[in-house]
Amino acid sequence: MPAAIVIGAQWGDEGKGKITDHLAERAHMVVRYQGGNNAGHTVMVGDTVLKLHQIPSGITRPEVAVVLGHGMVINPPALIEELDTVRSLGVMSDNIHISSSAHLVMPYHILLDGLEEELRGAAALGTTRRGIGPAYADKYARTGIRVQDLVDPARFRERVSQALKRVNLELTRVFDHDPMTVESIAEQYLPTGERLARYVTDTDHLVQEALDQGKRLVLEGAQATMLDIDYGTYPYVTSSSPTAGGACQGSGVSPMQVSHVLGIVKAYTSRVGAGPFPTELLDATGDWLVEQGHEYGTSTGRRRRCGWIDTVALRYAARVNGFSGLAITRLDVLTGLDQVLICSAYRLPDGSLTRDYPADADVLAHVEPIYISMPGWSEPISHLRSVQDLPEAAWAYCQRVSELINTPIDLISVGAERDELVVIKWPL
Ligand code: IMP
Repeated sequence: MPAAIVIGAQWGDEGKGKITDHLAERAHMVVRYQGGNNAGHTVMVGDTVLKLHQIPSGITRPEVAVVLGHGMVINPPALIEELDTVRSLGVMSDNIHISSSAHLVMPYHILLDGLEEELRGAAALGTTRRGIGPAYADKYARTGIRVQDLVDPARFRERVSQALKRVNLELTRVFDHDPMTVESIAEQYLPTGERLARYVTDTDHLVQEALDQGKRLVLEGAQATMLDIDYGTYPYVTSSSPTAGGACQGSGVSPMQVSHVLGIVKAYTSRVGAGPFPTELLDATGDWLVEQGHEYGTSTGRRRRCGWIDTVALRYAARVNGFSGLAITRLDVLTGLDQVLICSAYRLPDGSLTRDYPADADVLAHVEPIYISMPGWSEPISHLRSVQDLPEAAWAYCQRVSELINTPIDLISVGAERDELVVIKWPL
């Protein structure tokens, strides 16, 4: 009953989509376990660039069942649009299952996400404004609306009416905004319920049956460890748990059924949105990484902040997730640099050195990264498929990162294309 978890080890955009798609080649089922359409996973299929937001990355393989797990928050109109886009590209299977227990991102969540960000002013979190925080807040306040409500019009109207009692007070009294009506929401959402109904099921049952039958599962995370609500740089985090514990919580897989935890590590670091980022490069090298790596958000188009790899944060990520192996991605982006730097420790504001990641985002904002310098390489590497063929300096860089994180390397991605991968060990 192998179940491998795919987890972003940094602040997101590590290239989880490509790795999940690759593992899906050997899997029977891919389960997305948290987040919503704040995510953007890019998968290349031949000349087609597929940008996925809510649909799991196994979708291009008709033999693979894809599951939107109960830990997700689903935006139904956006999901319909995504299904239509994917279908129009001719790469979509119909082997898709949506958890009846997943919560919905409602129109007022999206509105409130924007209004709350405006209210924060200079302290804005830089959210994707997709309503993710307010949707999870409602889930935990036990006032959320779920997929099972969406496919039952009478129940949907009743739940929305109940929710609007509080939401409209907030909209009108706190934000001086017009109230929302049950009818306008029903008009927008109920037709989506009709279209999605045939995919809606008890996915926990489906997942456990698959494991009973010895099928191979990939649990696909969105966002990443440093954006985790508990482990991340709070409050500059997302509102779900992208880490290994969250994978079990949001997918219906027990920790005892997990066979491998794969940490996806970009060969450098990027972050989108506000919050501390010790190795951020605010210089020409940072700009070079942005352009070389096309570091613009898949979901929002925002320019990502870029910097050197940070093995203090990664060592922490490896520990809290229990990484069994690493997939180092986008190694090709570093090609052409004379030297590549690795952050191996932080100098704290009191002058002491540490390799332990500070839990306080305010402390993290004031640490000084201590770097090791490694020689760079100039040869293109995207066509290479084995470790022996990699330039010595590129492999030495990967090995040093792996040693500092104390986790072996399973895969190295050397380009955006599906097959541009060096496989050392299959995680599944
Ligand atoms: P939210 O998830 O929209 O609430 O945004 C909270 C923080 O997470 C912001 O800094 C976002 O930029 C960041 N974030 C959310 N989704 C992603 C993602 O898929 N990749 C990278 N950052 C993300």
